[in-house]
Amino acid sequence: MNKTATLTIEDKTYTLPVVEGSEGEKALDISTLRQQSGYITLDDGYGNTGSCKSKITFIDGEKGILRYRGIPIEELAEKSSFIETAYLIIYGELPNRKQLQRFSDLLTKCENLHEDMKYHFEGFPSTGHPMAILSSMINATSCFYPEVMKGYDPATFDLMAARLISQVRTIAAFAYRKAHGLPIIYPKPSYKYTANFLHMMFSEPYQDYELQPEVVWALDLIFLLHADHEQNCSTATVRFVASSRANLFASAAAGVCALWGPLHGGANQAVIEMLQQIHDSGDDGRKFIEMAKDKSSGKRLMGFGHRVYKNYDPRAKIIKARCDQLLKALKLNDPLLDIAKRLEEAALSDPYFIERKLYPNVDFYSGIIMRAIGIPIEMFTVIFAIGRMPGWIANYKEIMESGDSRIYRPRQIYVGPTVRPYMPLKNRP
Ligand code: SDX
Repeated sequence: MNKTATLTIEDKTYTLPVVEGSEGEKALDISTLRQQSGYITLDDGYGNTGSCKSKITFIDGEKGILRYRGIPIEELAEKSSFIETAYLIIYGELPNRKQLQRFSDLLTKCENLHEDMKYHFEGFPSTGHPMAILSSMINATSCFYPEVMKGYDPATFDLMAARLISQVRTIAAFAYRKAHGLPIIYPKPSYKYTANFLHMMFSEPYQDYELQPEVVWALDLIFLLHADHEQNCSTATVRFVASSRANLFASAAAGVCALWGPLHGGANQAVIEMLQQIHDSGDDGRKFIEMAKDKSSGKRLMGFGHRVYKNYDPRAKIIKARCDQLLKALKLNDPLLDIAKRLEEAALSDPYFIERKLYPNVDFYSGIIMRAIGIPIEMFTVIFAIGRMPGWIANYKEIMESGDSRIYRPRQIYVGPTVRPYMPLKNRP
């Protein structure tokens, strides 16, 4: 028997169907509310509003649970790789040996950009932010593959998805090299995904970058942990654009733009800038925490808090542990890590953060790992975008394959001027 809820407005009662997810989440289906009652709902920031049903990622924010296609993030972090996890997220199951090999071969086949793409890089100033270059070049890439412009086609989807996952990495590395006046380094077909990215970033024409297993492993984990996260701001943006039946590359380019914001993926860059500012000021962190609690300061404890997690972000826990391992393996000592740990300890015992259930999120420690690898701070959010690409592609595929999905077009409550006549220029004050 389908559950329902009743809503009474003035003297009328309306019945709304209740939708229950496979993990027991419940929702009121309000798709007929306006037609029945003339009312819409209003929910600033969509904190209480579901935009879709999805089978990709499950988060329990109260318990700090994250699962990709039902598999706990802790198990994937320990046993899987970014590319195997990308396949799981996009296709719904872990690949068998043959499927994994085919996926890997497709990524290798697509790893190079169209040679004419090089000229687009020439046009960017060296000061151009790599996130601006990334979103532009993802869209520009689609100009070289007219088949992607035809929109979603199951027959070409695998190739389009592999091309986007593979080339987002090449575009990112080329953008970094150009910004630093360095010759671009082409991918090596013999290298796997993450190793090839490091090669394209840090090799020289006369000398290959030395691939240290701990470094490849740490960066691969960063990609894996960022691979999807249900309807976060950038993934919801990808779905918005996909709902108009725009192509995959246009949807992903929009996702890059949404991710860039400092409240979202840009937070990993903002965390390091915050830690560096604290370090340079000689503050032990307590002064900054007081500022972060004072709304008038305009400061926030970046890397802390989350719309969904009201407990420790499971990804932050995994990254924090990997930070220590990597720094030890590289014999590095980063004072910013010590500051981060002190900030975390102080914040987690401070009533302001406790009352608001503010815990470290994925961005709080990820920058420390990227610094240790030698990735420049302006590339941090680009790394996030490379990691998130499988999630965006999976959500694009899901919306395209759900026959009943409508174009996203929210309503609003108008609060502007009521009707009034046009005033000729000569009469205006
Ligand atoms: C990501 O959605 C996702 O899943 C995102 C992500 C993903 O994988 O895609 O997990 C990745 O974006 C992680 C979040 C990275 N952003 C930051 O670290 C920036 C700092 N954090 C925040 O600005 C904030 O916590 C958000 C943006 C993450 C969440 O914002 P919400 O849900 O809109 O919460 P809010 O701004 O309404 O805050 C509630 C209260 C407010 O205080 P009161 O008005 O109740 O007194 O908590 C306070 C806020 O002022 N608050 C903070 C704070 N975060 C929230 N105060 C100080 N420092 C902070 N970091």
